[in-house]
Amino acid sequence: MAWYDVNARRLPWRALPGEPAPDPYRVWLSEVMLQQTTVAAVRAYYAKFLELWPTVDALAAAADADVMAAWAGLGYYARARNLLACAREVARRGGFPQTEAALRELPGLGAYTAAAVAAIAFGQRAVVVDANVERVVSRLFAIGEPLPGGRTAIRAETDTITPDARAGDFAQAMMDLGSSICTVKSPRCLLCPLADACAARVAGTAEAYPVKAAKKAKPTRSGTAFWIEQDGAVLLVQREGKGMLGGMRALPDDGWSARADGHRTPPVTGEWRSAGVVRHGFTHFDLELQLMLCPGADCATLPVGEFWPVDAIEAAGLPTVFAKAARLALAHR
Ligand code: ADE
Repeated sequence: MAWYDVNARRLPWRALPGEPAPDPYRVWLSEVMLQQTTVAAVRAYYAKFLELWPTVDALAAAADADVMAAWAGLGYYARARNLLACAREVARRGGFPQTEAALRELPGLGAYTAAAVAAIAFGQRAVVVDANVERVVSRLFAIGEPLPGGRTAIRAETDTITPDARAGDFAQAMMDLGSSICTVKSPRCLLCPLADACAARVAGTAEAYPVKAAKKAKPTRSGTAFWIEQDGAVLLVQREGKGMLGGMRALPDDGWSARADGHRTPPVTGEWRSAGVVRHGFTHFDLELQLMLCPGADCATLPVGEFWPVDAIEAAGLPTVFAKAARLALAHR
């Protein structure tokens, strides 16, 4: 904590060490965004969301499509769907509940977020373990069991060192230690306030932790997206339900997924030709997405969607893989 008091990162969603907690809405919003995503990537999105929706009531009243479009590019789109479901329930209840257990009952709010919000926004003692904390604690206690199984031991050890007071500052101190000193590669043990207590440091093996189970090879899937343009507007569809990129605007495609290649068949007949391939890395697979163009597509049988002005395609809120495809199409027009 002494180290954090001097070295805390100043971040827009944070109070200074020892200061009163920020608005729970801000804490919750930032924690949802920061899961699986770096501080650098989150900053602009966090500012944009607060400007568009300064309160949880404002967010709860937003149209789904506007929230999904504002999230576009941040990835893991289930988070945006869950964010909205949660905001609506919090607005209905008239505010956030203040304990970890009650937070956990909100729709779309997982174990990590419940602990982080309870600690950071409400000063409750909660055991907060994100990837940075996982690394610090696995080194501190030299926990050799590989992840994901090793998470149980990491959590139990984190529990043993979590204080009753200033639990939010403690959690963020561990995060900052992980991001600035106890880094994945070449940890800066000479500067670390925990160096003497760290079992991995004493053994000279800090970089070996956390131990991870051997990764499965990432498959490469292939798919096709279709650019159907009329009068300076391109056909966009809304992706279905809860699957990959669910609820997001997208180009029509051939049904590629993490498990299978797409079927390649265009949604309408016409003289299709390839504009090239874009590549995009998802968590569990890499995608090679072929983009097909057709100047004279049969418009009688178009898939359900909306025509979006091509000049304003940046404002459509396409997820990154389709934004890449759109840029390729523009280069071909
Ligand atoms: N990652 C997750 N939560 C964070 C926070 N509150 N500050 C910095 N990085 C984080």
